[in-house]
Amino acid sequence: MPVHKLAASVLLLSVLFIAAANYLPDIPKTWDMKEIKRFHVPPYDRKVAVTYVPEEIYYALPEYKLYKTYPVYIYDKMPEGYLDSLKSLPPEIAVDFSKLTTDEDWIEAGRLVFEMPPNRSPYNALTFESAWVDSVGYETTKDGILPYLSYIQTPEGLKLGSTSCANCHTKILDNGQVVVGGQGDYPFDREFAFIIKKFDFPVTASMSTPLVYAPWSDPSVKEAWAKEDFVQTLMSTPPGVMTRQGTGTESPVAVPSLFGIRDIKYFDRTGLMKNENIGDLMRYAAFNQGMDMFTQYGAYIPMNGISSHSQITTEQWDHPFGYDAGRYSDEQLYALAMYLYSLEAPENPEKSPAEVLARGEVIFAEQGCVTCHTPPAFTNNMLLPATADFEIPDEDKETLDIFNVSVETDPYLSTKTRRGTGYYKVPSLRGLWMREAFFHDGSLTSIEEVLDPARLEPDYIPTGHVPVNKVFQGVPGHPFGMELSPDDKDALIAYLKSL
Ligand code: HEC
Ligand code: HEC
Repeated sequence: MPVHKLAASVLLLSVLFIAAANYLPDIPKTWDMKEIKRFHVPPYDRKVAVTYVPEEIYYALPEYKLYKTYPVYIYDKMPEGYLDSLKSLPPEIAVDFSKLTTDEDWIEAGRLVFEMPPNRSPYNALTFESAWVDSVGYETTKDGILPYLSYIQTPEGLKLGSTSCANCHTKILDNGQVVVGGQGDYPFDREFAFIIKKFDFPVTASMSTPLVYAPWSDPSVKEAWAKEDFVQTLMSTPPGVMTRQGTGTESPVAVPSLFGIRDIKYFDRTGLMKNENIGDLMRYAAFNQGMDMFTQYGAYIPMNGISSHSQITTEQWDHPFGYDAGRYSDEQLYALAMYLYSLEAPENPEKSPAEVLARGEVIFAEQGCVTCHTPPAFTNNMLLPATADFEIPDEDKETLDIFNVSVETDPYLSTKTRRGTGYYKVPSLRGLWMREAFFHDGSLTSIEEVLDPARLEPDYIPTGHVPVNKVFQGVPGHPFGMELSPDDKDALIAYLKSL
């Protein structure tokens, strides 16, 4: 073969080889202004203009580096010399995106992104001694590991990492099994309360305001709390519920499970963001892990002390959650979304007899549950007005999938907070058996309680989230499946626990 031909075929072969080795998926652009505007549902008060972080500012933020992470133990179960052995390790980048060749590689990289903690504190910031663990109520594995957190070895030394997706979207079952993507049960609010008490921190308005205030929200949110009320309110947040930014200290939200997320058309209880393609899941992650705090709502930017993007200098991009500003790369977010798509709910180990399940399925249809909780996703993927008198804006009729029936649960989250849209979505019932917080506010703790008519009575005190200052009116709304014979109700519950 002539030399030039040989060279040409070697070249061709290597091009083919590179093409095969570097499997490059078609990665959407996360912070694409047109897409951001499409996917974000407007606030309940339509007069509030929303201005997003400009693309060039977003992409100028430094990308997170995925350093290798290590398990966190509670103090009593930590192996002898464990922290010292970690301290001596070199920082190591856990994944090289240029080497990913298959879908499985991307999914595995996504797992590392899911576990990567953006917030890094001194490694001994929380010591997890018995007193902490008992008062706050952390769940651990049988080996005493807190799978929500991790140690991370960085060029600045060993750090305790938190606020990864895993921090909030991991659940530990009673048998110690770790369910990634289950309704997260990390006791964020109670941990915060414990720290305020232990270190006697003063409670100031600025402690909670940037997280939860919105210009159209309940004005009382801006007032400083009496310390004891604040602490008690945080302590009243049960497992599976938390004050995510944009909700409210008195109106935290139930954590969703992430199984089957690809089939869910609206993210969040209030349907705040659309899920029309994989890019929307990437945008959701970017928005909720920092960009919401820099979004301008009217003349208000949640991050302290700034009222317009034009005032932000590079130095001011300190992260409002207390760590340096950073962003996930588009590749990291794509891998993360692939990983989330791959998560599957474990089956309920307690199986009811087939005839009971069949009967329950019939009752589920007869009672009209299927209209809203339509199989196979067990949601019709629609938004329902939070109150019966909400006037649906004309533009929404074109841009949103609305089912114009309110189930009339407590409207506060959707009308008085930054996550409010005026709607609640129909939640999927998949993996219901392992949830412990029901309804958007997590006021109920079991399926039995959802279907118990006693909860509608004004003096009923629910078993789940109860805000300290709540004047009792029971747990209103969603009056379905309540008037069944005991056998039929048992069959319905058995069916619901099999989904
Ligand atoms: C501090 C806790 C916390 C962290 C960190 C966190 N989440 Fe969430 N996440 C929540 C809570 C609480 C909700 C419910 C919000 C609501 O309904 O308004 C939620 C909602 C979601 C939803 C919407 C699901 C649905 O069915 O509505 C998705 C998707 C999601 N999170 C993915 C992620 C990913 C990916 C990460 C990491 C990049 C992440 N979350 C980090 C607490 C957290
Ligand atoms: C008109 C629509 C509609 C019908 C009919 C309906 N639901 Fe719901 N369901 C909802 C909405 C909306 C929510 C969320 C309410 C909230 O978050 O405040 C919900 C919540 C739930 C929840 C709590 C899940 C969670 O994660 O919070 C369960 C369980 C449930 N429904 C079961 C049923 C059953 C069983 C039936 C039939 C007996 C039924 N639903 C009928 C709309 C409906």
